[in-house]
Amino acid sequence: MNPFNLTGRTALVTGAARGLGRAFATALAGAGADLVLVDLPDADGLAQTAAEVAELGRTARVYGQDLARTEELHALADRIRAEAGPLHILVNNAGTAALERFNEITPASWQRVMRVNLDAVFFLTQRVAEHMVADGVAGRIVNITSKNALVAEAGLAHYNASKAAVDLLTQSLAVELAPHGITVNSLAPGMVATPIDGEFPFDREAFEAAYRARIPLGRYAEPQECTGALLLLASDAGSYLTGSRIVVDGGVLADQMPRTRFMPPYRTTLPHH
Ligand SMILES: NC(=O)c1ccc[n+]([C@@H]2O[C@H](COP(=O)([O-])OP(=O)(O)OC[C@H]3O[C@@H](n4cnc5c(N)ncnc54)[C@H](O)[C@@H]3O)[C@@H](O)[C@H]2O)c1
Repeated sequence: MNPFNLTGRTALVTGAARGLGRAFATALAGAGADLVLVDLPDADGLAQTAAEVAELGRTARVYGQDLARTEELHALADRIRAEAGPLHILVNNAGTAALERFNEITPASWQRVMRVNLDAVFFLTQRVAEHMVADGVAGRIVNITSKNALVAEAGLAHYNASKAAVDLLTQSLAVELAPHGITVNSLAPGMVATPIDGEFPFDREAFEAAYRARIPLGRYAEPQECTGALLLLASDAGSYLTGSRIVVDGGVLADQMPRTRFMPPYRTTLPHH
């Protein structure tokens, strides 16, 4: 048996209308899972993701929900359970970022980032996990964090704090859900080519070139390049992984110092011994 095969399982992906969420949804469908796709009610990309899942021969149910409406999340989970049946996999992927200096972050902006990136992860997981336990499902929960859960990035104090909080939440839930056979892990991408940063207040090309120079692999990830780690955490292949973090960052966290830029060029001839 292929331990990555997800035939017969149902996976919920939040933020599934575009970017990483769409890549995660189609990768899960490609491995055999049926999908429940959640995104903002006006997210037009949801239909496109659903169509891509259908093309892979799997079913996709679509739910429009603002995840910042914390008090509605248990009802959402209950509705999904009633309509889609038991959930086996939950991917908390939806996230939001706003580039703001720390002294310009308003309470509204702080709360929006925390509600979407942290509160929604907790309260959706809280209810979905209760359903998994009641259904006797050895579930898989994957929280999409960021390299910013581990190192700071200027202009993103709220985002950084929210992602770091999700990392410890991941460990906390892993410990509490382990007796039920449910695993909880996080996947921390580095720089991925998605629309997340939205409108830029500065020269986007210069910004991306500066970032690329800090990435040992020399380029942003394509969303698909994060799906291998997701399939590991979502499948039987990851049965002994819980409370863990997989960093998919092209080497960014491994290379915090700029020394490589000042070293002599790479020697291409083999020395004689
Ligand atoms: N792109 C990157 O470089 C990068 C790096 C590290 C981590 N991440 C994380 O990966 C995840 C996905 O990011 P992405 O780059 O695909 O972003 P994206 O902006 O392209 O997609 C995020 C999706 O989440 C949805 N969403 C946002 N707020 C929502 C809300 N309140 N309710 C429901 N849905 C909501 C959006 O509509 C969108 O479809 C996020 O958690 C992000 O923090 C991204």
